[in-house]
Amino acid sequence: MQRTILITGSTDGIGLETAEMLVSLGHHVLLHGRNPSKLEDAEKTLSALPGDGRVESYVADLSLMANVEALAEEVAGQHAKLDVLINNAGVFKASDPVTADGLDVRFAVNTIAPYLLTRRLLPLIGSSGRVINLSSAAQSPVDPKALRGEVPLLAGTAYAQSKLALTMWSRHLALSLEDQGPAIIAVNPGSMLGTKMVKEAYRVAGGDVRKGADILRRAALDDDFAAASGQYFDNDSGRFASPHSDALDPQKCQEIVGGIETVLGGSA
Ligand SMILES: NC(=O)c1ccc[n+]([C@@H]2O[C@H](COP(=O)([O-])OP(=O)(O)OC[C@H]3O[C@@H](n4cnc5c(N)ncnc54)[C@H](OP(=O)(O)O)[C@@H]3O)[C@@H](O)[C@H]2O)c1
Repeated sequence: MQRTILITGSTDGIGLETAEMLVSLGHHVLLHGRNPSKLEDAEKTLSALPGDGRVESYVADLSLMANVEALAEEVAGQHAKLDVLINNAGVFKASDPVTADGLDVRFAVNTIAPYLLTRRLLPLIGSSGRVINLSSAAQSPVDPKALRGEVPLLAGTAYAQSKLALTMWSRHLALSLEDQGPAIIAVNPGSMLGTKMVKEAYRVAGGDVRKGADILRRAALDDDFAAASGQYFDNDSGRFASPHSDALDPQKCQEIVGGIETVLGGSA
């Protein structure tokens, strides 16, 4: 069955590789990027693949919440149903770490934008769909003030906090929706995979990006992920595992979601 799958940040790295895999398997992939010419190149390459797979593309800078809203509206305007949302777009290093909304770009792109996009697209995804959130082995306790953009952090610290915050809201939303919503699963795609992000952040070549794409393919399509809502898959160990203990603490997760809602002005 052909599935409709939105992958954010599918102009490079794991997202682009995953998009290629899913289009090759005959799925309808909604590509997304912030850079129109990279997005056009990706669309051209993937639409030339043999088979019944389809592609279309959407531009949005996810560091700006107004653009996230616009992206959700555009997708909803084109599609009544989305089978899978893969919140893959992410940032580690940035020349200007503070967004026009006054947020740390890591929290904006890695935590808050996927929360807002997910909330807006829930009606399209329904209870049979899936939301796959790109977490990381790097997870550190979240400073609520940093989440709100009130305290500057070093890139690595902001990144690790943003990924734990994403893992925490994933679990909170999954448990609060139960079977009324999609399966929401946080996935560490594997550490030090050789993408632009890893090369820039750690100055190493990194491992095979297909390892990350393959686990996202499985998370999007395989039956064993359908019943895994609220769980965390660690692709370093290749199994469902415990995330940072804060993500298993309902009170702490609630506080993080409260912080995200405060940033969004209670609109999500
Ligand atoms: N690589 C690893 O070892 C690893 C490990 C753990 C987790 N992850 C996670 O995996 C995901 C993919 O990362 P990657 O390693 O494939 O990195 P990447 O090659 O740098 O790709 C990141 C993607 O996100 C997009 N993006 C960044 N900022 C954006 C913004 N403001 N608005 C819209 N799109 C934006 C990028 O767009 P451009 O093409 O325009 O830059 C690109 O398409 C991230 O969430 C990352 O944190 C990766």
